[in-house]
Amino acid sequence: MRIDILTIFPEMFDSPFGHSIIKRAKNKGIVKIFIHNIRDYSLTKNKNVDDYAFGGGAGMVMMIEPIALCIEKLKSERTYDDIIYMSPDGELLNQSIANHLSMYNNLIILCGHYKGIDERVREAYITREISIGDYVLSGGELAAAVLCDSIIRVIPGVLNDETSALSDSFQNDLLSPPVYTRPANYKGMKVPDILLSGNEKEIQKWKMSKAMERTALRRPDLLSDDD
Ligand code: ADE
Repeated sequence: MRIDILTIFPEMFDSPFGHSIIKRAKNKGIVKIFIHNIRDYSLTKNKNVDDYAFGGGAGMVMMIEPIALCIEKLKSERTYDDIIYMSPDGELLNQSIANHLSMYNNLIILCGHYKGIDERVREAYITREISIGDYVLSGGELAAAVLCDSIIRVIPGVLNDETSALSDSFQNDLLSPPVYTRPANYKGMKVPDILLSGNEKEIQKWKMSKAMERTALRRPDLLSDDD
């Protein structure tokens, strides 16, 4: 899979993409991530990427030209499955969206800033808008990093034990059951006996019942058939 990210703060991706599972996926060649600095596509003398909003109002607006030039160049090189704009106006990210996007070959992700992007970018290029929650971030970069992480970890071959992504919370509309590691007894706080019993069938039953119990308590909405 190839992901092209358009941003005015390329360095913001150094850390999230330089560690752990995303780093491993890149090293294995399963995902290639290219970060494009929108400023490099500005045709103005001072490399501007934003300007005042027509009609007034607080805040600057990201200009269409540099974004359009960057997207046009990428589109001339390959076909993209989606051109995503990270925005609080978008559809709310969930596991099923992440699973779906993980099957794509080529994605563009545009990160906005200031008061947003010129509406004509949306009209001409954006095929999908995604939000990571009902709150406003200073820009789309952190949201794009969250989206990429959620997509990349479910691509087959990224995790060593393939079942480990499938057993994540939300993969079956259930939260995960509690997990424990050594020591079996920490200052009197004991790991449930069943997990030490070696009885695989009973352990699986226990995990499922704990997952159901936790989901019913914390996220009963996940158990309803409405969606
Ligand atoms: N940009 C600013 N806020 C955002 C959010 N909540 N989700 C996605 N992109 C954003």
